[in-house]
Amino acid sequence: MTKYIGVLTAGGDSPGLNAAIRGVGKAAQGYHGMQVIGLRDGFRGLAENRTTPLGGEVLSGILTVGGTILGTSRDKPHKMAVGGKERDMTDAIVENYQSNHLDALVCLGGGGTQKNALRLASRGLNVITLPKTIDNDVAMTDVTFGFDTALGIATDAIDRLHSTAHSHHRIIVVEIMGHRAGWLALGAGIAGGADVILIPEIPYDVETVADAIRKRARGGKKFSIVAVAEGALPQSQARKLDAADAQKRTARTKEDKKRAKAALAAIAEQHGQHTVHLAQQLEGLTGLEARVTILGYVQRGGTPSAADRLLATRLGTACADLINDGVFGVMVAARGDGAEAVPLEQVAGKSKLVPQDHPWIASAKRVGTSFGD
Ligand code: F6P
Repeated sequence: MTKYIGVLTAGGDSPGLNAAIRGVGKAAQGYHGMQVIGLRDGFRGLAENRTTPLGGEVLSGILTVGGTILGTSRDKPHKMAVGGKERDMTDAIVENYQSNHLDALVCLGGGGTQKNALRLASRGLNVITLPKTIDNDVAMTDVTFGFDTALGIATDAIDRLHSTAHSHHRIIVVEIMGHRAGWLALGAGIAGGADVILIPEIPYDVETVADAIRKRARGGKKFSIVAVAEGALPQSQARKLDAADAQKRTARTKEDKKRAKAALAAIAEQHGQHTVHLAQQLEGLTGLEARVTILGYVQRGGTPSAADRLLATRLGTACADLINDGVFGVMVAARGDGAEAVPLEQVAGKSKLVPQDHPWIASAKRVGTSFGD
């Protein structure tokens, strides 16, 4: 009997999503003889039953295209804004899954998507996910697609910032995405030869950062590149964040949870301008002029790298094979040159941060990079 599968992309867009949609779709249709439809704009499209055909015509020519042809959103099935109110749309999603006679739902997304997928799996849907995000912070997979492309873009930006920083004898503080993980800043910082790399996993002391810059200046290098992850924090703030996180985890009552959320929101608000603030502090402490560059969404846009196209195709086609074998409730993780089905319970609610003893950190330190610790 022909199997019907639905595909959606959720969370922030990421290069390689179209390559993955194509990989799943072509393998499912051409190789396994299944029928494939797309759901628009993440879980919202499934809740509102907005479907689109994903036949061979549509899948052709999208391998190299950035973004997602399906559209995406950060909507969660159990908390969706509808008519100005937050509603649980899980029942509508289950109904639409059934009315479209779906045998499987493929969710392409990052950490949040894994959690939402698990919720739907617990309602009896045959869910299978792929790990995408430029942040590379999804647990239980070697790597996520999107990361390599963003790494290339951020590295290229650091290369370009070097020549202008050098010419003007300036400090350039470059903010790199990554949410609460430092993979992108660390990787691009190393590849681009940043003098200082600040990541959330290693809270920094601004005096130590200034020391490193002053030392370079004394040695005749009157410019410095500081690659700072958007989630990097000075040590004092990191302690507050840890306390608020612990408060949220251990909260027993609704009131406790509210208080913890308020504390986290206050930290996030204060953090808003942290890159600008850091540059101002470094200017004051070193006497060198400082400038800020926030790379922002340019890191997520445009054509995927060859490595991301390859990874997305590999995981997408493996996903179709797993559906054909009736394997559900799993994420298709990248493992070495292959793919591995990991139960969603082992992925949802977890994130992969940079371990303190990661070889990238050791290498960066060997070449004299400061982490401000
Ligand atoms: O998860 C990818 C990411 O680009 C993060 O690096 C960043 O913190 C976040 O998304 C930005 O989210 P939004 O697209 O909702 O502004």
